[in-house]
Amino acid sequence: MRRFVGRRTGIILGCLAVCICAPAAIAQAQLDGYWDLQTPNPSGDGTILDTFFQIHQNGRTISGSLIRWHHIIPIAGILQNGTIHFTTQPPAAAPRWERQPIVFSGTFANGKLMLSRNDGENTTHGLARHVTEAATQPPKPLPLPALHDVPDNGLVRTPPMGWNSWNKFADKVDDASVRAMADAMVSSGMSKVGYTYINIDDTWELGRDASGNIVPNKKFPDMKALADYVHSKGLKIGIYSSPGPKTCAYYEGSFAHVQQDAATYAAWGIDYLKYDLCTDLDVYKDDAPTLQAIYQEMGDALQATHRPIVYSLCEYGRAQVWNEWGEKSGGNLWRTTGDIEDRWESMDKIGFSQIRIAGFVKPGHWNDPDMLEIGNGGMTADEYRTHMSLWSLLAAPLIAGNDLRTMTDETKSILMNAEVIAIDQDPEFQSVTEVSHVGKIEVLLRPLGDGSVALGIFNRGSEPATEKFARIHLPGRFVGKTLQVRDLWKHADVAFTGDELTTNVPKHGVVLLRISAQ
Ligand code: GLA
Repeated sequence: MRRFVGRRTGIILGCLAVCICAPAAIAQAQLDGYWDLQTPNPSGDGTILDTFFQIHQNGRTISGSLIRWHHIIPIAGILQNGTIHFTTQPPAAAPRWERQPIVFSGTFANGKLMLSRNDGENTTHGLARHVTEAATQPPKPLPLPALHDVPDNGLVRTPPMGWNSWNKFADKVDDASVRAMADAMVSSGMSKVGYTYINIDDTWELGRDASGNIVPNKKFPDMKALADYVHSKGLKIGIYSSPGPKTCAYYEGSFAHVQQDAATYAAWGIDYLKYDLCTDLDVYKDDAPTLQAIYQEMGDALQATHRPIVYSLCEYGRAQVWNEWGEKSGGNLWRTTGDIEDRWESMDKIGFSQIRIAGFVKPGHWNDPDMLEIGNGGMTADEYRTHMSLWSLLAAPLIAGNDLRTMTDETKSILMNAEVIAIDQDPEFQSVTEVSHVGKIEVLLRPLGDGSVALGIFNRGSEPATEKFARIHLPGRFVGKTLQVRDLWKHADVAFTGDELTTNVPKHGVVLLRISAQ
């Protein structure tokens, strides 16, 4: 796909060089201005994607921008004999989802602009219509509530465990795949080791009915029936929205419908809401009091339904959510970082950056370094064991992001390692600390409720390492005691008689121990 886009871009630039001096044949006024290209969403869910442009035509040269409200991406291209090509020109520092240029091509004849849109994965076709500049702008902000502390809802005393559709399925999630994940969560044994929530992420929304109620698109014919099905399996179901007018995938958000949407979720039987900031940033300020008010509004609305609904804030760690405003707005968990990707560099960077804020967590209010990528294929088994170990030491939510129907035995052994999960879910929460960090070797320790400690010896380097772990790194109560040491990935006891333990740690891997004193 990348090559396809590259080729197209090459054609555009080639044309630019050859054709730029030829006389303009098209009436300039017709193309100059603001346009809304309406294309069907590629997943076939019956929704329409609006892509707004401002186009400037100079002879045969097309410039201007793709407008996502306050977010402007330059475009460049050519118009020749009624045929038009242009592409977005993402700046070098563009976020990941914008780095891939979007290629537009089609015809402009008799004032009608017909375009295909290729985003590197899908090509869709539609008619663009002239719009006013105002139509390309976000709605005006609505008054926000006065700040107060939302009471604790009493949920998720240990970090939530479950599955979410986004990492693997993105816009391909539908009713059938959600049911299949619920089936697989039970048949694989995941539900037995604590996984409970089946969470639908973005792209389930269609729009609003005449009364303003949110309506699912055709991938989800009956949300209530789906929730009933998930509940019949002994599981719980989650859904997704944004406080903004649009979600991150540009589907309908909860802006101006917060209480109404909370009531709808409760009526459907929803047990968990992921509330993703997204286009809210085009409407409101990006500071702690504003974010608190926005999230508080939904926190209050969920509690007003009197249904227990876990409240998951997704705001990429803005404005120190972990100690400034996450708990006050009623959040049970809050994202502390940008989106994870299924590759070592992303997981390593996100995971190890969390230790400094690991203390800002307490039962019912968890830091969320994003969902698991285990089983998605972009990392080695050692790297996935590091992922699971690190998230468990951090007491992070364990939200699987893979296809539960097709897990290998190795993936199952990582996601369902009950001894590792027990660290994540330790009922008497105490936070992880770094006991040593020498070169690429990082040793993390988390005290556990039964008096033992979990100890992770991580090798972040790209060569295997032989490491010594010394007794003096353990808390004082371990001094002079006989130690019982359990290797949680080998599921075996380890002899530790002297003052040091020598162990081999694979590249990007971990040795995870649970140590108790007799
Ligand atoms: C944001 C979130 C992701 C996912 C997508 C959906 O990027 O951080 O976890 O929910 O939106 O569009």
